[in-house]
Amino acid sequence: MTEKLDLTLTVNGRSFAIRVEPRRTLADALRTDCGLTGTHLGCEHGVCGACTVIVDDKAVRSCLMFAVQAEGSLIRTVEGLADGETLNPLQQAFHEHHALQCGFCTPGFLMLATAILEADPRIGEDDLRHALSSNLCRCTGYQNILIAVRAAAEKMR
Ligand code: FES
Ligand code: FES
Repeated sequence: MTEKLDLTLTVNGRSFAIRVEPRRTLADALRTDCGLTGTHLGCEHGVCGACTVIVDDKAVRSCLMFAVQAEGSLIRTVEGLADGETLNPLQQAFHEHHALQCGFCTPGFLMLATAILEADPRIGEDDLRHALSSNLCRCTGYQNILIAVRAAAEKMR
């Protein structure tokens, strides 16, 4: 059996001391070891984007990153977006513009969109479409996701 490592992950401003095998993915560490199940796992091989979180201001697929690689970084997950019961502008826009149906892809889209808008709050339509196309949604047809992200971008500017 592989020896386990002691790690400290910083997630949404909180420290989580965990003990995991070196091969543990960040997605599994967040969900199982930190108890943050808002990050979803779909394909588990980097295709769907359901597991997207933000690591040091960049959107990453947490199923493709080992937990050990994230030690010392600032990790943000969907649990960190709302302020108590108050949704943040992106979450509110997803709600208002019906940008989710089953909701499975939603945490990944919210984190991807957060990173996109933080990097460029004035991102153009084509670039936004291109950036959001990296995540998959089986339900919405994407149109309302685009509308919601655009609406949130306007509010956040
Ligand atoms: S679960 Fe990570 S990309 Fe699909
Ligand atoms: S809302 Fe169901 S997969 Fe996107």
